[in-house]
Amino acid sequence: MGSFIDRVAVVTGGGSGIGETTAIEFAERGASVVVADVDIEGGEATVEAIEDAGGDARFVETDVTDPEATRGMVDVAVDAYGRLDFAFNNAGIGGAQTPITDYDPDDWQTVIDVNLVGVFNCLKPEIEQMQAQGGGAVVNNSSILGQVGFASSSGYVAAKHGLLGLTKTAALENGETGVRINAVCPGFIETPLLDSGGITSDPEMRKQIEGLHAMNRLGTPQEVADAVCWLCSDEASFVTGEALGVEGGYLSR
Ligand SMILES: NC(=O)c1ccc[n+]([C@@H]2O[C@H](COP(=O)([O-])OP(=O)(O)OC[C@H]3O[C@@H](n4cnc5c(N)ncnc54)[C@H](O)[C@@H]3O)[C@@H](O)[C@H]2O)c1
Repeated sequence: MGSFIDRVAVVTGGGSGIGETTAIEFAERGASVVVADVDIEGGEATVEAIEDAGGDARFVETDVTDPEATRGMVDVAVDAYGRLDFAFNNAGIGGAQTPITDYDPDDWQTVIDVNLVGVFNCLKPEIEQMQAQGGGAVVNNSSILGQVGFASSSGYVAAKHGLLGLTKTAALENGETGVRINAVCPGFIETPLLDSGGITSDPEMRKQIEGLHAMNRLGTPQEVADAVCWLCSDEASFVTGEALGVEGGYLSR
């Protein structure tokens, strides 16, 4: 895959899990990286890891539910590095694990705000900047749960389905601008988000979730990071509006 030297990337939710690994992968390929997160400690730790490995990064505290903050995030990239080539809109939360009948409406709204509205808030300034430059690549982090349902996760599933519609629409609006917009749909990936749902710490639950994938295992953040970097690379130059599964055969059954 070609090098990302002289390219600039932003990663939301870059302080943990898939975002952290992807930010590090962008930097290893030569990009300068803006790490955005509500979690200051996590975001700064990612920047430190990149710098320790000889890369270039900076942290910007960003709550993706705030449109002014996401615009500020893009401004940081442009002020520091003069451009924005890649954006990985990855920040997300799991939300409640409960049937619709018991789901608190405020909790449901929070999942939609972070996982769906948050990506819309990012796309606006990212696409504007990329259009002004004449090109760029955006990847939104959806999920297998953007393509099929999952009992007791209605807020998450609805947001991730919506994200695929948003991705396709943004791709159509940018077919001739040079800005490509795609999504990744990971299966269950071993990150702190899964720990918070008890999936990785409970051996029985883990075994059950692993078995939902044809490969009978969880994915790694690195496997998602590699797919994101490929979608951003020039090797994916005719790929837009795509929902790329990184899911070990979860959806093949
Ligand atoms: N882990 C999985 O199995 C899996 C599978 C499919 C999709 N995903 C998606 O991948 C993305 C990353 O998940 P992860 O598993 O790495 O989780 P994670 O909890 O390890 O990381 C999520 C990061 O997002 C940040 N974040 C949360 N709310 C934010 C906000 N409002 N503004 C800015 N940052 C915020 C958190 O602070 C955290 O650093 C999420 O969108 C998730 O839905 C995860």
